[in-house]
Amino acid sequence: MQSVIETLNKIFMTSFEKSGYDRELGRVTVSNRPDLCQFQVNGAMGGAKLYKKAPLIIANEVVSNIDNNDVIQSINVVAPGFININVKDDFLHSYLHGMLTSQDYGFEKTETPQTIVLDYGGPNIAKPLHVGHLRSAVIGEALKRLNRFYGNKVIGDAHLGDWGLQMGLIIHELKVRQPLLCYFDENYTGDYPETAPFTLQDLEEIYPFASQKSKEDEAYLEEARTATQELQDGRAGYRALLRHITNTSLQDLKKNYARLDVDFDLWYGESDAQPYIPQMVEKMKQDGHAYLSEGALVVDVKEETDTAPIPPCIILKSNGSAIYETTDLATLVQREQDFKPNRVLYVVDKRQSLHFERVFRCAKKTNIIPQDTELTFLGFGTVNGSDGKPFKTRSGGTMKLSELLDTVEAKVSIKDSNSMSAEELKELSQIIALSAIKYGDLQNPCESNYIFDIDKFASFEGNTGPYILYTMVRIKSILSKITLNVDTTNNPFVEFTCDTERDLALTLTKFNHIIKETVKKDAPSILCQYIYEISNKFNAFYHDKKILAESDEKILSSLVSLITLTLNILNTSINLLGFKAPEKM
Ligand code: ARG
Repeated sequence: MQSVIETLNKIFMTSFEKSGYDRELGRVTVSNRPDLCQFQVNGAMGGAKLYKKAPLIIANEVVSNIDNNDVIQSINVVAPGFININVKDDFLHSYLHGMLTSQDYGFEKTETPQTIVLDYGGPNIAKPLHVGHLRSAVIGEALKRLNRFYGNKVIGDAHLGDWGLQMGLIIHELKVRQPLLCYFDENYTGDYPETAPFTLQDLEEIYPFASQKSKEDEAYLEEARTATQELQDGRAGYRALLRHITNTSLQDLKKNYARLDVDFDLWYGESDAQPYIPQMVEKMKQDGHAYLSEGALVVDVKEETDTAPIPPCIILKSNGSAIYETTDLATLVQREQDFKPNRVLYVVDKRQSLHFERVFRCAKKTNIIPQDTELTFLGFGTVNGSDGKPFKTRSGGTMKLSELLDTVEAKVSIKDSNSMSAEELKELSQIIALSAIKYGDLQNPCESNYIFDIDKFASFEGNTGPYILYTMVRIKSILSKITLNVDTTNNPFVEFTCDTERDLALTLTKFNHIIKETVKKDAPSILCQYIYEISNKFNAFYHDKKILAESDEKILSSLVSLITLTLNILNTSINLLGFKAPEKM
């Protein structure tokens, strides 16, 4: 379905053109003075400068040239040249009926679908997920679902960090502890064991231990570096260990992501890009882009317009080993071969923006991907504690993601209820906690930092996830008390019973437009703002109209249709944002 704004655009743009002005001036916006009107056109002010004419004259001309239509109820021209618009209730009724009876509430999938590789999550093998990984998972998952709803093809890749020094540290520490394992015997030619020589608990202890030791012991660090290098060069025992480390760690990662209701199509790691490195490097050398600088192989990526110095992109270190830049570049080669994406979208901490700027420039300069592949870095801000500093545990340590989930679940848990079993209560607290965490995150523009305020996020009042769920459950409860069956073959909507009902209806009609804006701007916060608005409008209407007391069947059918649509739109929206609602609470 055409959105209401699009319908109005057509009317006003045509009229601007008919009056001899640029059609673009006729664009309609949602009114920022809902007390005065529902929509407005402000193009007469812009036109005044272009055509050297009073805006009021332009506005009046445009209004007098509007074609007959079934949409507009009233138009008011107000000084200095605003055009204020209200639409007909009948138009809203038939629009709502259209929404109620069409697939996806009238949202039509894009006619020009893109293939998007979405790089999010970014967990590191052998290190537990912590609060720093939350935003990438939450924002990325929402963008994946939103883009799919929009009609794009999305491939979500976790891009595991499995290729850096942390692997060398673990391997070296294992060697110190168990030097006789076959993985360390260079003459070993047999098959390596199926099961790992360590558990997840071991791994969680080994990495921080080795990491700490490498900071105090230069020789130890050197050994870990050598192990990293040997792993990257393909030493069989080390590759076998990497597989064990990855498998063990993945079990835990998957469990944590499942709790967040986040899922990836690919669990590729940096190491999977390894086979693409030699050829990529060769091409960069042959084309004359890569050259040796202080022993390292680099590509210049600075541009004349830079206001700050941009260091060259390092392709290989002087010892020949690959670094973070190398794997990201080779991963682009891999993605091009596998998917030919129109766009690669990275959801990563904004502190990595320079890294991505260099990688993007290098990829385009060296033509390892087509020039028209869109590379987007969606850098997100930090999750802070109430002191404004990165969120920590009470004792000042990094908060593990699982601990964070436990804490919020405990916070929202309802202890006793006569109508629910212990199991149901547990599930309920998981659902509410997820809404609190995800909505608390997504309501902020991605690039902003925010304060993780558990009390605020978990509250059932205010701009929170639980408030949205509470509203939905309220609607479910009303609907469960009404036995009437509404036949939607004919338009069930009749005259609005109060202004707040019209307000709610008008808000629902924006769904189409909001989804487009959210996807175009990679901004789930737009959809959050929208569902908050719907919830507020619904609750205001609920306060004004005693739905259950309505005895006129026609009116009741109309009310039921409206709140059903409200519930469905909220439900679809929260699913797109990555959480769900309970039946009761
Ligand atoms: N593992 C990285 C980190 O923890 C994030 C990976 C982001 N994605 C990428 N393609 N570099 O910082």
